[in-house]
Amino acid sequence: MFDPIAIKSQFPIFKKKTPNGVDLIYLDNAATTQKPQQVIDAITDYYSGYNANVGRGTYWPATKATGAFEATRTKVKDFINANSLKEVIFTSGTTDGINKVVNAYLMPQLKPGDEVIVTEMEHHGNFVPWQQACIKQGASLKMIPLTETGDLDYGAYDDLLNENTQLVAISAISNALGVKNNLEYLTNKAHAVGAKVMVDAAQLVTHEKIDVQAIGCDFLCFSAHKLFGPTGVGVLFGKEELLSEMPPLSFGGGMVKRVTLEGTSFADLPAKHEAGTSNISGVIGLGAAIDFVNSIGIEAIHTHTRALTDYAIEKFSHIEEITIFGNPKDRTSLVSLAVEKAHPHDVSAFLGERGIAIRAGHHCAQPLMDYLQVSGTCRISFGIYNTKEDVDRVVEALIEVRDFFA
Ligand SMILES: Cc1ncc(COP(=O)(O)O)c(C=O)c1O
Repeated sequence: MFDPIAIKSQFPIFKKKTPNGVDLIYLDNAATTQKPQQVIDAITDYYSGYNANVGRGTYWPATKATGAFEATRTKVKDFINANSLKEVIFTSGTTDGINKVVNAYLMPQLKPGDEVIVTEMEHHGNFVPWQQACIKQGASLKMIPLTETGDLDYGAYDDLLNENTQLVAISAISNALGVKNNLEYLTNKAHAVGAKVMVDAAQLVTHEKIDVQAIGCDFLCFSAHKLFGPTGVGVLFGKEELLSEMPPLSFGGGMVKRVTLEGTSFADLPAKHEAGTSNISGVIGLGAAIDFVNSIGIEAIHTHTRALTDYAIEKFSHIEEITIFGNPKDRTSLVSLAVEKAHPHDVSAFLGERGIAIRAGHHCAQPLMDYLQVSGTCRISFGIYNTKEDVDRVVEALIEVRDFFA
């Protein structure tokens, strides 16, 4: 049975008090998740037990390190239902994966008159790289607008697509509204005009099963740190034929077959796209994070965080002078709100003093803030270790902060 309290006990950070001497209620999971002991142990075990570079040495501990590193690739492949290990490239995170696709895949072919489509709800990580590529190449960046509820305007998307569309880049779940997008629909429509699709799964990865074959996307990326894993490591999924055709994402050691003074032939996938020494401890930590999530079950995590989101919306909607942003058909994992007369940073500082960690600001989604006509919001984002009692504590604190600023 799913027991958030038992799960929480596996996270050492929750055994500590805040500097104010209270328990931490961590509600900034959309920014990064906390780390369970087994992930921390996996990283420590590598450094203290079998530290060596991977893919090179034939001695112990290099063989053990390579085995652990490549075992994570298999875990990722199964976790996202990729077709083969060749489709799993380790990166430093979501942003890195997106930039690599922009530079290695899009830029070499993007020309004036071409179009790239993003959405109005994108995190800057899935917005600025495409925007800059379009500016540089004289192409156009088109934006799928939002409806009044905060959902994507799918009709407007259909109208934007045409034979000039080269690529559609979409987040699976908005990090500022929690809106879940219909990835299958967006992908099918893009493919119908010959465009490729990049899915930013930074928020999806910790809440729902990712099935890249069912989605049909061409690229997808996520960061380990939002999946209870370490920072500085992530995954880029790409369809094998695309990753094979593309020039290397970067150049250096470990990604070559033969180097001469005249030229270089490149290694087969996935090594072709992993130049230099990888973040070995990070990849091993990601493997432990996937084991951790699998031991609980991603469906159970989804059910829990979804139920907490519904519970929170119900509670918050009864507090006068609180505005909840968006009312989408499918919302998961987080709530963005404003307290009348109080700046979001004041609200988060007020809650912070009570041990409640929420996020305030534009959430790296300024085009979305422009759409909402605010400079920022207060974001409460849920994880597996949160409970209804956490929500109740937030409700009390929001009422206090509202009264304080009234
Ligand atoms: C939707 C979305 N995309 C991209 C990113 C960037 O992720 P990272 O900073 O791990 O590269 C984030 C981080 O919050 C996000 O929420």
